[in-house]
Amino acid sequence: MTPRFPTLPDIRRAAREQLPREVWNFGDGGAETETTLRRNRRGLGRLAIRQHVLADVREIDLSTTLLGTRLEWPVAIAPMGGLVLFHPEGDVEMARGAALAGTLQFLSGAAGWPVEDVAAANPGPNKMFQLYHHGDRGWVADLLARVEASGYGSVVLTADVALYGRRERDIAADWNPRDAMSIAPAPRGPDPSYQARLTWDDVDWLRKTTKLPIGLKGIMTVRDARRAVEHGVRLVWVSNHGGRQLDSTQASIDALPPIVDAVGGAADIVVDGGFCRGTDILKGLARGATVVAVGRTVLWGLAAAGAPGVARALNLLREELWTAMGLSGQTSVTKLPRDLIFRVD
Ligand SMILES: Cc1cc2nc3c(=O)[nH]c(=O)nc-3n(C[C@H](O)[C@H](O)[C@H](O)COP(=O)(O)O)c2cc1C
Repeated sequence: MTPRFPTLPDIRRAAREQLPREVWNFGDGGAETETTLRRNRRGLGRLAIRQHVLADVREIDLSTTLLGTRLEWPVAIAPMGGLVLFHPEGDVEMARGAALAGTLQFLSGAAGWPVEDVAAANPGPNKMFQLYHHGDRGWVADLLARVEASGYGSVVLTADVALYGRRERDIAADWNPRDAMSIAPAPRGPDPSYQARLTWDDVDWLRKTTKLPIGLKGIMTVRDARRAVEHGVRLVWVSNHGGRQLDSTQASIDALPPIVDAVGGAADIVVDGGFCRGTDILKGLARGATVVAVGRTVLWGLAAAGAPGVARALNLLREELWTAMGLSGQTSVTKLPRDLIFRVD
């Protein structure tokens, strides 16, 4: 039976109690000094919500559209590899949870299961694919043909893992997630180091190779965002990989506003990094994101109780967002005033 989990911190606590320490640290930790990891939370914490009252908030519309796909609410599950460490049915179980909660899932390019199997567990339109270029162009082209045939709505290339970040919690414990993951049923790409050679030429190649709209994940500067749009990218994903790659970057919530201005509606915007409460989601949306993606918040749901745990985490987040919208006098996530959010310290 699924535990009730009254609040989101209860889910996180249950995951921590259940997981082996190394696995908890792999999920929870960040690169090197974990400055990026902390800064994501601090960046959100420094922002306040302006409280508007007497606004008739009986009806609140959380729905939005991402790359032409209608979403019931503006949150997505961020792509995460290594899910088999957190649940025996890993990516497939996460897809079941996404379907239960009616929430868009980005399937990780480092998934342990074939894309077809994960797609079957979440048969609706709410699924998109994250690509790691873990092989040459021939390997990617074959994979993308399978992704297209499985019904995924877009391909998002993760661009912030040219090299692997140094996660010192894992290094100190002499623990390697890749060894621990060898129990996963599907092989990973043949050459993970291929990512180091990627350039904007590969983005052009990707655009020509798939008929799906393409996105880029790991954009943190106005320059790269502009370039993405020039290269036909339709989804710009503002992210520092949840603090797991380059240490000491800006908080993603702080990188977001100038990127939104530079993109100027030419692409949809996703943001992630430290979003774990409804008020955080509201801040990301008011600062101009089309959708906010969450990683660890749903990962703890998966670890604590499988698909029902994923759905519980998402439904709590949705309730919190609804409450934050109503209490700040807002009735539509697509019409939030930018000055709803301001910096307090
Ligand atoms: C365990 C774990 C595995 C991840 N694997 C991937 C991955 O395979 N591909 C990817 O683009 N990002 C990956 N990420 C990064 C997430 O997609 C996302 O950017 C980040 O977790 C967002 O921050 P949050 O966890 O604070 O919400 C992973 C994150 C975690 C926690």
